[in-house]
Amino acid sequence: MKTTISEVGKYVDQTVTIGAWLANKRSSGKIAFLQLRDGTGFIQGVVVKAEVDEEVFKQAKELTQESSLYVTGVVRKDERSPSGYELTVTSLEIIHAATDYPITPKEHGTEFLMDHRHLWLRSRRQHAVMKVRNEIIRATYEFFNENGFAKVDPPILTGNSAEGTTNLFHTKYFDEEAFLSQSGQLYMEAAAMALGKVFSFGPTFRAEKSKTRRHLIEFWMIEPEMAFMDHDESLEVQEKYVSHIAQSVLKNCQQELKALERDTSKLEKVQAPFPRISYDEAIEMLQKDGHEIKWGEDFGAPHETAIAEKYDKPVFITNYPAEIKAFYMKPHPERPEVVLCADLIAPEGYGEIIGGSQRIDDEELLKQRYDEHNLSLDAYQWYLDLRKYGSVPHSGFGLGLERTVAWMCGVEHVRETIPFPRLLNRLYP
Ligand code: 4AD
Ligand code: MG
Repeated sequence: MKTTISEVGKYVDQTVTIGAWLANKRSSGKIAFLQLRDGTGFIQGVVVKAEVDEEVFKQAKELTQESSLYVTGVVRKDERSPSGYELTVTSLEIIHAATDYPITPKEHGTEFLMDHRHLWLRSRRQHAVMKVRNEIIRATYEFFNENGFAKVDPPILTGNSAEGTTNLFHTKYFDEEAFLSQSGQLYMEAAAMALGKVFSFGPTFRAEKSKTRRHLIEFWMIEPEMAFMDHDESLEVQEKYVSHIAQSVLKNCQQELKALERDTSKLEKVQAPFPRISYDEAIEMLQKDGHEIKWGEDFGAPHETAIAEKYDKPVFITNYPAEIKAFYMKPHPERPEVVLCADLIAPEGYGEIIGGSQRIDDEELLKQRYDEHNLSLDAYQWYLDLRKYGSVPHSGFGLGLERTVAWMCGVEHVRETIPFPRLLNRLYP
């Protein structure tokens, strides 16, 4: 019976054939232990010299790392193995013998691994991270579909910018200039006026000149937008969504979290509701702890980490000064110097995972913001139209997928959370 490693539990004490790669091997004169992987999982194949044909044992002993093969054997239940099963090998058919695989079981430096990202992805740890990423994407579609949202795809080539002009990627668009999208938000607002509750999931681009463990040049964002919802209602959606992600990863990625040595007790606490503190309170808290920060300044990574350390759940920081936030955010009705917005800061120092706000719904105020931010009416007339024809209160947010994956997996750097990271000065592979 041809099957996959993830399915072997259905065939205990039966003979199966699996297409696999050799991840690693240990052998002596009498026995060979083959660490096999097939993409769906990892399993140990045991080849006992006394129990197989001479030729099979020879093949097993000579098998090189990352060679591909069909392996046939009997599935055994084995409590000690991480997968719960082991394969007693009866025969091997080598498909392709690999020579000198560059990523050996010894330690390698980060730059070397990044140069070999196309192969590094095969490792146990990277495999686990990609599976967790996949689970977060799956849980995202599940959550929004179950809650009445429609998926809408905003364009990637645009003629406007949502998040300021300093980190835009420029490209030629026939005779015009275009940018790669920094955020689908403005288009998602138009979509919300057509479909009510919408969400997008797609790549976004920012020419970030800074090298940090939280910034990618190309990253993926989930951007929900909701008509007839104020900011407080949006926060409730956000905390339910993030809790759903954490609980889904805990439920469906146990083997992966184990491979990553993730402290899962930390993720178990991620249940709505999340604490909310105002920007004012956050500034006060930081000043009390000796940080040099004044009202009106934006938080850096150390500030976010210091705030996050006070909680064991993600924390919302609300009502930032209008000055340091995007042009489209709605001012607080009693304090126009701050806006109806929040950043969601993950625990354990993983930083801001969500930025969200209620949007300006008044045509005149939005026009005023265009002037203040030097935005041309030519490029933004369509966005103004949304306030001209049946304007409604509406709110939305963007969750950065890679930072969320880093947090769920407990990995230090976002470069390990996307298959092929685009970083400052890195376009290869
Ligand atoms: O806070 P940001 O800039 O918000 C927006 O783009 C809004 N237009 C979203 C919306 O309301 N629809 O980005 C949202 C999130 C951040 O909280 C962070 O998680 C992630 O996107 N992010 C990045 N992730 C990796 N690398 C970068 N360079 C990132 N910049 C933002
Ligand atoms: Mg932000």
